[in-house]
Amino acid sequence: MTREPRAPSGFDFHGESLDDIFAVYGEMRRDCPVARSDRYGEFWALTRYDDIHAAERDWQTYSVQPTMLLPAFGTDRPMIPIDIDPPRHTEYRKVLLPHFTPERIDRLEVRARQTARELMADLAGEEVFDASSRYARPLPTVVFSEHAGFPTEDAPLFDSWVDQIIYARTENELVSRAAADEVYDYFRRLLSKRRREPTDEDIISGILSARIDGRSLDDDELLDICFLLFVAGLETTAWGIRSSLWYLSQAPHDRRRLAENPALIPTAAEEFLRMLSPVQAMARTLTKDTELRGVTMRAGERVALVFGAGNRDPEKFEDPDTVLIDRAVNPHFAFGIGVHRCIGSNLGRRELTVGLEEFLAAVPDFELAEPAPWHGIGPLMLRVI
Ligand code: HEM
Repeated sequence: MTREPRAPSGFDFHGESLDDIFAVYGEMRRDCPVARSDRYGEFWALTRYDDIHAAERDWQTYSVQPTMLLPAFGTDRPMIPIDIDPPRHTEYRKVLLPHFTPERIDRLEVRARQTARELMADLAGEEVFDASSRYARPLPTVVFSEHAGFPTEDAPLFDSWVDQIIYARTENELVSRAAADEVYDYFRRLLSKRRREPTDEDIISGILSARIDGRSLDDDELLDICFLLFVAGLETTAWGIRSSLWYLSQAPHDRRRLAENPALIPTAAEEFLRMLSPVQAMARTLTKDTELRGVTMRAGERVALVFGAGNRDPEKFEDPDTVLIDRAVNPHFAFGIGVHRCIGSNLGRRELTVGLEEFLAAVPDFELAEPAPWHGIGPLMLRVI
């Protein structure tokens, strides 16, 4: 029984490692589908669709505790509900789900469209602009902050915290820890203000009045939910919009098809989510010794479910490395599929769809003005043509 199948040179799924990651995923799926990486205190990496699917379903063996983030998001506190196993997880999820009903999403769509139009109007007449900082990032920040009850005037602060917590953590843990502390302080102040001055409708009001087993949520629970919403609600959708525009800037045929036939955009958005997933992997911790494909993994070891690799598994998807904007069947992992399946998936996909519709309506033809990586939420300089 093998214990040491190695991923190519200390496999990582963050930062510059993502530049050419899809070739690496291909090798891993073929040669070492249960691979070992020495990054982040060592972890296993599952890259085949069926293995990821099975692990996502088996939460008893693949626990999210202490955290599904690898490495952590600058805090040792559990993020709620993402870092909690059932049955407690189910209770927290019930508190959040009413804020993501189809009616809520329809109302948020109106706001998303209005925001997208305002952002595009600001860009009118500019020949070259950064579509990331001027469009992909502010759109979900405005829409989700209003929905959650985070003051939108603090958006510049949110942006810098997201950069430090999500992006700096792989380079400098201290930076992400300091930023996470600031975010917790910020939400401590915001929650006490909202207790003094209640409003209705938004998620913060919802969690302040929520009951689990007849009791209110305590301060730690409220803060751990706010922190998770903050890191989950803004950056992922911004990545989705930015990476879709990155692709379209280099795919004139698909760009024209979508500009001329916007009804195709929701299906295309699913394909962009599959091909350029904002969350390339999430981790679990094994609750017991587990054998997979002849490899023994031990209780307590960490396992990355590499969604980005499963999303291009040739056993599951035909022509997996090609963007097919009208791909009819697309059971991708961009939002996960198990008990922790993304609560914001319908909001995220609606923001992405509206974001692309409004962008293409205002600027049907554009190209990359400067080389830019496909991943992340860094600058994306586009030139109108
Ligand atoms: C394109 C945008 C988004 C992507 C790609 C995305 C992706 C993900 C992924 C991969 C997970 C973990 C699934 C798992 O490990 O099984 C997740 C969980 C979650 N996401 Fe999203 N997400 C997006 C947008 C959002 C938005 C807008 C929100 C708004 C609040 C949100 C809230 C959450 C929450 C609360 C969870 C935890 C669910 C649970 O533990 O039960 N996400 N998301």
